[in-house]
Amino acid sequence: MNAQLFALKPVSGAEGSGGQLVRALSLPALTAFGIGSIIGTGIFVLTGTAAANHAGPALVVSFLIAGVAAAFAALCYAELASMIPVAGSAYSYAYSTLGEIVAWFVGWNLILEYTFSVGTVAVGWSAYVASVLAQFGIHLPDALMQAPVDRGPGDSGLIATGALLNLPAVLITAGVAVVCYIGIRQSSALNSALVVLKIAVVLAFVLLGASFVTPANWHPFVPPNTGTWGQFGWSGVIRATAIIFFAFIGFDTVSTCAQEARNPRRDVSLGIIASLAICSVLYVATALVLTGMVPYTELDVAAPVALAIDRHAPLKWLGLPVKLGAILGMTSVMLVMTVGQARIFMAMAADGLLPKWFAAVHPRFRTPARATVVTWIGAALLGGLLPVRILGELVSIGTLFAFATVCVGVLVLRRLRPELPRRFRVPAPYFTCIAGALSCVGLMASLPADTWIRLAVWTFIGLLIYWGYGYRSSRLRVREEGR
Ligand code: ALA
Repeated sequence: MNAQLFALKPVSGAEGSGGQLVRALSLPALTAFGIGSIIGTGIFVLTGTAAANHAGPALVVSFLIAGVAAAFAALCYAELASMIPVAGSAYSYAYSTLGEIVAWFVGWNLILEYTFSVGTVAVGWSAYVASVLAQFGIHLPDALMQAPVDRGPGDSGLIATGALLNLPAVLITAGVAVVCYIGIRQSSALNSALVVLKIAVVLAFVLLGASFVTPANWHPFVPPNTGTWGQFGWSGVIRATAIIFFAFIGFDTVSTCAQEARNPRRDVSLGIIASLAICSVLYVATALVLTGMVPYTELDVAAPVALAIDRHAPLKWLGLPVKLGAILGMTSVMLVMTVGQARIFMAMAADGLLPKWFAAVHPRFRTPARATVVTWIGAALLGGLLPVRILGELVSIGTLFAFATVCVGVLVLRRLRPELPRRFRVPAPYFTCIAGALSCVGLMASLPADTWIRLAVWTFIGLLIYWGYGYRSSRLRVREEGR
């Protein structure tokens, strides 16, 4: 039994699934997929609360730290993607390096990253849409705009809010799923258009906003700690880093599309690194300009970028385009995350760890259609029923776990299979991989205790499913038993 738990899927056999998908994605399209899933709720929503409650103007330092941690993980993803160019991302890498049970847990936690991200971003999307509609005098009933539960007082437990469901969040997840169902070309074309628009909006904010920066707003750069860990001071910078790490999540989505890439061994690695580099530069610039335009104490709002613009009369005209840009930007995050999740389900089903039913490719659209519908149902339930903070923290913990595993996986494969061709090699691997894994674990440790409890419950459910299904139906096991 133990032998199967740690059985490794041969790297050379890893390319077996997903052969009916369309190889339609070039390097620019893959980079756009990365940017499409990176820039979203993190920069448009979470920057405000991170600056106002935790880091002050030192938010820019939080972005730099999170960017470096993400870069370590991105380099590791790039090496594995250049060796194992298959659709399952970290799940497939773990299967070839650390064994079946670890792969199962990574795959199970990637649901936290992908499906839960779609739900989280849908809630942010809904808030921005409500704010645009309100600008035109249209007010949607609260009962249809909020989750029915929220965190209780003192951030513990759950309380009923009296609302029914977040209807716009449910509707947008459905709209996105339809595009993903219809085709990878359509998804890629829509994503590329949305990416151009959202980069234009971020650049407009940075370039036009820069002339309204008042350097006095950057003082004190690190506001003094209030006496509570995480409320300003350097502990606040660390807490803000854990919050805005969400903004960097998504570069790994590029690796889920490896089987739809025209030149996967080269372009997937490059796409991962290019998308992260572009977004990091945009983020640091945005954080500097945002905290320079408005005193950080005023930024604790759902649309901090729009607030900074509204505070400067000559820029008022930019307010609506920025909100629309944020809405489109968040749409592309949901789009790419839905694409990614469906391919991960497909890869897990092809390996026998999920029912074969998930692996079916639509005969006409040539997409993992059933896996796309399952992703939608999950995202719609989450976005419709849960508040953004609970969802966002679960996304972060699941993603950080996957990132840490990938960092370790690179070192394992360097030892186990040093001879395999690597189109991309992590520089200074011992330093990069260990620093990457430690920074992910450190950020996980700074998340609240109830997020860890939810992770434990999630893991327990995952174990039951693996025991009840995956362990018995794994293709590696079936092959070994000659069935
Ligand atoms: N990085 C993505 C976002 O910020 C998940 O929305």
